[in-house]
Amino acid sequence: MPDNSLIDYCRERGNVAGVVGLQYGDEGKGKIITALQKHFKLVVRAQGGGNAGHTIMVNGKHLVLNHLPSGLAGDETTGVLGQGMVINIKTVADEIKRLEAVGKQMQDQNNIVLMGGAQFILPSLQGKLDTYGSAAIGTTGKGIGPAYSLKADRQPTTFNDMVTRPDFCKQGFESLINKYSQDTQLDLAAIIDEFDKHRELLLRLIDEGYIRFDPENSTVVDAYHGRTPILLEGAQALMLDLNQGTYPFVTSSDTGFSGLMSGSGCPDINTRIGVMKPYTTRVGAGPFMSQLVDAEQEEVFVNAVGERGATTGRMRSIGALNFVELRHALRRTCPDILAVTKLDILPQLGAATNIVTAYHDEASEKQYQNTLPPMRDLTGRVDRFYDGIIPITESLTVPQANIAGITDFREIPDAYHPYIQKIINESGFAGSRLVFGTGPDNDEYCEAQIAA
Ligand code: IMP
Repeated sequence: MPDNSLIDYCRERGNVAGVVGLQYGDEGKGKIITALQKHFKLVVRAQGGGNAGHTIMVNGKHLVLNHLPSGLAGDETTGVLGQGMVINIKTVADEIKRLEAVGKQMQDQNNIVLMGGAQFILPSLQGKLDTYGSAAIGTTGKGIGPAYSLKADRQPTTFNDMVTRPDFCKQGFESLINKYSQDTQLDLAAIIDEFDKHRELLLRLIDEGYIRFDPENSTVVDAYHGRTPILLEGAQALMLDLNQGTYPFVTSSDTGFSGLMSGSGCPDINTRIGVMKPYTTRVGAGPFMSQLVDAEQEEVFVNAVGERGATTGRMRSIGALNFVELRHALRRTCPDILAVTKLDILPQLGAATNIVTAYHDEASEKQYQNTLPPMRDLTGRVDRFYDGIIPITESLTVPQANIAGITDFREIPDAYHPYIQKIINESGFAGSRLVFGTGPDNDEYCEAQIAA
């Protein structure tokens, strides 16, 4: 069992910690959050929605949460759905039921707070709009992009609107149908019917004590000023960030620390935790410069380690470490703690892997070391996104020793040290704390400190 030094480190730095992914999502953020959660009173989701999928363990049973913060697994934690989120309330109700089914008390426990400024998602509206046009990006189909578009368009699509002025929302749907009717087949009656059902469900969840409604979006800011320990839980990851990622092959929210603050109202983050895997995976479309070329090896890896998207079940594309992407992500997030999850499954990559150390632009002779080049051709095949840009690779030996369940870094075999050292040296990580995941269970990880 690892000691509490990670929590002590966070506690010394201040009352707020934030966790974000540094690659393409699915880094195992839920595990780090679970390790920290016992210290924090509030665990907060601030962006994204049902596109996220965090696998957690409650009472010895695995379950996937899409909306509710994974830190909610703790006994005394309150999970907050922040105003930066886009939420299908029906699937929230399903998640509550699933938590109850594994023995967690959910009623009258002050377990879940929903901020009134969060956006509601109706599958018949935003979900349907998500099937038009964005298919080329390979979205999760949960209505995320359209929900944020309507928000930016200042449509009446917040939960405050749903609760206090349903008729105004319905008028809004009518004008939206007129706006989009040329390209889509939105059905006004179906939207209104679904809206009424979602509203009724929400009011019942509030009434029965499953959800506390916060129309002023003030839960987190009040907790901050009351010095309550707050854990901000990121979803997706920096390479999918709307501003900093591989646009347009991104999700529609700010997945970095700034998104955690703006989407929750928390004015500061004292401990910044970045999570990565010792290899790369991606679901959906977009450039993937370190993808394994050997399809058989990829299949073996997917089957051996279960690398499928937690939300959609789609097979994740597997790749080696890409240090251009990692430097890009680390320079734009500057974490204090770097958590490298799933170190134990590294051996499945085979004896050696071709890590990407730079990109070379053949036309201009420019080398990209720590930032992504602009995308070139969005219309063509996958290999045209960075047409004329060649990844420069280097072979790195993959350690083969079994480290499953190790909780003391001193027991990590020497064979792992060159790989770990490469991550630290090449990624530009400037913090002093490291965490390594060594197995799927909550307490299977170890910590290390970089000498000053
Ligand atoms: P959207 O978020 O559904 O709009 O999808 C946009 C892109 O982000 C697609 O490539 C998705 O596969 C990807 N994506 C969204 N959420 C996640 C996630 O939680 N993990 C991994 N990929 C995600």
